[in-house]
Amino acid sequence: MKAESDGTRPGMAAAADTARLFFAAWPSPEVQRALHAVAQRARRECGGRPVAEPNIHLTLIFLGEVERARLRELEAIAGEINGSACDLVVEHLAYWRHNGILWAGVDRCPDALRELVEALSAGLLTFRLRLDDRPYVPHITLLRKVRRGPAVAAIPAIAWPVHDFALIESAPSAGGRTYSVLRSWPLS
Ligand code: 2AM
Repeated sequence: MKAESDGTRPGMAAAADTARLFFAAWPSPEVQRALHAVAQRARRECGGRPVAEPNIHLTLIFLGEVERARLRELEAIAGEINGSACDLVVEHLAYWRHNGILWAGVDRCPDALRELVEALSAGLLTFRLRLDDRPYVPHITLLRKVRRGPAVAAIPAIAWPVHDFALIESAPSAGGRTYSVLRSWPLS
């Protein structure tokens, strides 16, 4: 089929007007490398497909599809947050059978991280999005399409200093999805 003159087809306009967004803690390349190595080792036992190294992150709040026209409003809400930096110690693996995800987690969620998630949720009340109201479980997805969990949950501890949080756009790409940091905000 011949493309239309502006390069779009019916039905594409809506996709361009919205973005799939989430707030996340984005690790340094070193932390991503360490977590990816854990994923590769776990894969030998559990199977599944590793999350690409540059995509490894910790979601704080998933927003879903948001109109691009509302990005500034969202950034203003995030800019009002006075969050504190914290140190995550990633030291165990866990498996969710219902969605086939193997993830890495912390034994103790720092108060500062929980408060950051709560502050974002509170700020987003005015934004009128339907947010997940289940308790926040900090999880770093490492493998997808996993059929069995690991025999041993403990992993050598990985230190992840969290100094900022970011607004991320998730877009489809040839190899799966590409995550782009749209903007980040420091934590004191
Ligand atoms: P997941 O790794 O457990 O799938 C980008 O998709 C990020 O947002 C991922 O961390 C993903 O979590 C999370 N995410 C995707 N859909 C979600 C949803 N409906 N509710 C909560 N988090 C979601």
